[in-house]
Amino acid sequence: MRRIKLKFAPGVETEFTDRDRALGQLVEWAEKSTRFPVVVFGPEGCGKSASLRQAAEALGEFGFDVVYVDAAHRDFAAYTDVAEVARRLLDAASDVSGLAQLKLAYLAVDLAKELIGRWGKKKVAVLVDEVFQAVGLDKAGIYVKSLLNLIEYPPRRYEKIVAIVVTSEGVAREEIGRHLWAELRPMWNTPREGFQQLYEKLPGPKPPFEEAWRWAGGNSRMLGRLYENGWDVEEVVLRLMREKELTAGFVVRWRRWLELAVEDLEALWAGGAPEELVKELEARNLIVYNMYDRRPNFWIDAPPPERDPELGIGKNVAWQTPIHREAVRRALERV
Ligand SMILES: Nc1ncnc2c1ncn2[C@@H]1O[C@H](COP(=O)(O)OP(=O)(O)OP(=O)(O)O)[C@@H](O)[C@H]1O
Ligand SMILES: [Mg+2]
Repeated sequence: MRRIKLKFAPGVETEFTDRDRALGQLVEWAEKSTRFPVVVFGPEGCGKSASLRQAAEALGEFGFDVVYVDAAHRDFAAYTDVAEVARRLLDAASDVSGLAQLKLAYLAVDLAKELIGRWGKKKVAVLVDEVFQAVGLDKAGIYVKSLLNLIEYPPRRYEKIVAIVVTSEGVAREEIGRHLWAELRPMWNTPREGFQQLYEKLPGPKPPFEEAWRWAGGNSRMLGRLYENGWDVEEVVLRLMREKELTAGFVVRWRRWLELAVEDLEALWAGGAPEELVKELEARNLIVYNMYDRRPNFWIDAPPPERDPELGIGKNVAWQTPIHREAVRRALERV
């Protein structure tokens, strides 16, 4: 399988690294089809989008007609001999009325349907990234249902179908989880060995791997940020504090719980934690709440460890990366 090239940081291009288990799971889906649309969620920057892009390439190699759309970034790719597909995707992406994202999101499903119905394609994949923001979180469930309809009531008989949706919206999980329309699958940061491969690919002087691991916890984007900022952890933490809007008001309001959480995040799981705070931490992509059982079958690629206090991973709740935890710790110190 050809590994795609990815822009990792300014001036650094890398090959899609590791994630061998995820690619193995993809091969299984290509052989068996996805019975339900697979909805992938996980920490920001863990590599969901990169993996989906790699999946598009791989499924193309396996002889699928592939429609891939990244709605939020108005990006798309088509692996098919039907020229019209790419043309219509380009039309939608170039829409200037402000509807490009919405159009791309729905077009992906329409095109997959047409590939089967109108063009008689037998192996079709539809891969969509960040569509829920485009269609609206309240319509996330309906969107996934339309993919299920395609799987269950195709306009013509097909042999294989693969439907995968990726989202970085922790809250989308609830809207989708309420229905039996999808297979929700979490993905975690890269396991140590794969992460080390990525780390080795970075040019220039760098701190020992242990340090990169301790701060980024296997998160590819955090590794990129550390690299871009000359491995200045302080700088990366301060930036994250700003992005997450960890304001004095927020910190003062939730101080008691936040203090407990930076020590041991499981405190938010063990009864009594305010739901509003949990929602807020989820919505800001600081934590993942309600982690699944670590059974490998529940996860895309390898599951995280059951517990890793150093990385901020608890049985039921986890910081997205140690830097996320550090940003909250710093915000507490400052106020
Ligand atoms: N397996 C990989 N090999 C090489 N680079 C990777 C890999 N996975 C991710 N990256 C790089 O790490 C960065 C973050 O990855 P990506 O954008 O896929 O994260 P994400 O999970 O989609 O994040 P978000 O939730 O914010 O959308 C990107 O620069 C990407 O190219
Ligand atoms: Mg992404």
